[in-house]
Amino acid sequence: MAGRVEILDGDLVAGLSADQLASRFGTPLYVYDMDVIERRVSALRSVLPGVVDIAYAMKANPALAVVSFIGGLGLGVDVASGGELATALRAGIPAGRIVVTRPGKRDDELAAAVDAGVRAVTVESLGELARLERIAADRGRHVPVLLRASVDGSSRVERVRIVGDGGAGKFGMADADLFAAARSAGRSQHLDVLGVHRFGASNVTDAAALEAHVIETVELGREVAVAARAPLRLVDAGGGLGVPYGPVDEPLDLVDLGRRVSRAAEGWAVAHDTRGMRLLIEPGRFLVGPAGAYLARVVDRKRAGEGHVAVLDGGIHHLLRPALVGQEHRVRVLGTRRRRDSSRPVTIAGPLCSGLDVLAASATLPLPDAGDVIAVLDAGAYGFTESMPLFLSHPVPAEVAVRHGRAHVIRARVEPETWLATQVVPSW
Ligand SMILES: Cc1ncc(COP(=O)(O)O)c(C=O)c1O
Repeated sequence: MAGRVEILDGDLVAGLSADQLASRFGTPLYVYDMDVIERRVSALRSVLPGVVDIAYAMKANPALAVVSFIGGLGLGVDVASGGELATALRAGIPAGRIVVTRPGKRDDELAAAVDAGVRAVTVESLGELARLERIAADRGRHVPVLLRASVDGSSRVERVRIVGDGGAGKFGMADADLFAAARSAGRSQHLDVLGVHRFGASNVTDAAALEAHVIETVELGREVAVAARAPLRLVDAGGGLGVPYGPVDEPLDLVDLGRRVSRAAEGWAVAHDTRGMRLLIEPGRFLVGPAGAYLARVVDRKRAGEGHVAVLDGGIHHLLRPALVGQEHRVRVLGTRRRRDSSRPVTIAGPLCSGLDVLAASATLPLPDAGDVIAVLDAGAYGFTESMPLFLSHPVPAEVAVRHGRAHVIRARVEPETWLATQVVPSW
């Protein structure tokens, strides 16, 4: 990957002064470097064989401008709700490049996907299959579907931490239901079984593990296609391509991944039952995570035991991920003066009245002063919208996208007055 592969370059954020960004847009603030997203998309595409399509999992960062930008690069999108489908369509993504996946899709969401004419609806259960068939029949439509296979919950590393057991079977179908769904959908006048969907694990940086997941998923797809009496046309291996968060984490070796998938693809191209198949992957984090930073200013600093605590004007209400999955992001104190100071242990905390509101428990940093800007890195995925911005009634940060050195507000900052204005005290 030539050029910047993450948002920070020395003291510059997306090539711009952090202080200027902070003064112009207010803190806290999310900044996304679109040039970095473009480079990550190109890097991934350049290593994968021609049989692979990429659908951006927009749950990672559903900002309209981000989705539109990625769509403009020619990618499809994976949407997980009616709201995300509406965003993708408004972003100009052709319906034929949209896939829809999520347990618990409501009838109105299934109907919207059918009406839009998406590339595929992923079916998560026998009940959902029956509802989708009825909706398709009511509309006289023929709907392309993928049947979602469950995976062993223990492999979903990140989700395991959130839900305790990887979802307790809520994702996809175990074999008995999967094959029953294949037989039933295969007989339907209104459903067209394209193949299977199977999400492995989150944040995987091991190319061999990703390869193994893809190969297993294609094997399963072959069996499902036989049960559906339909040719295997699409295998969706989900997302999960990882990025390093900690200082010693290794990045995914893209060239190695490309080599492995290309080798497998040579076999698919000559086998009678996979010749016409395409492979879809749905990366979210990999494309946008390292392209984003959360900037906040130090409000206060004090001694605590042997170290120091810096309290920021932003915290886990805007970037919940460190508390949610127990993984700290890298933090930096920005400004050349700061870089010359010697580093020492500093806790970087937010302003919430909760002990959980710590962005970095023991970072080693130059001692920040009140007014300094702190950058939390790798915040472009599962940041802004995976958080809890209303807690304690702070302002909701603006989201700013930088393209070729120019900064644009893509979602305006919201002051507490705005949601105060939506509330009503009844005349009891
Ligand atoms: C169905 C599906 N596809 C893709 C993704 C994106 O995963 P990642 O951002 O880890 O690539 C997710 C994440 O939860 C998902 O549930």
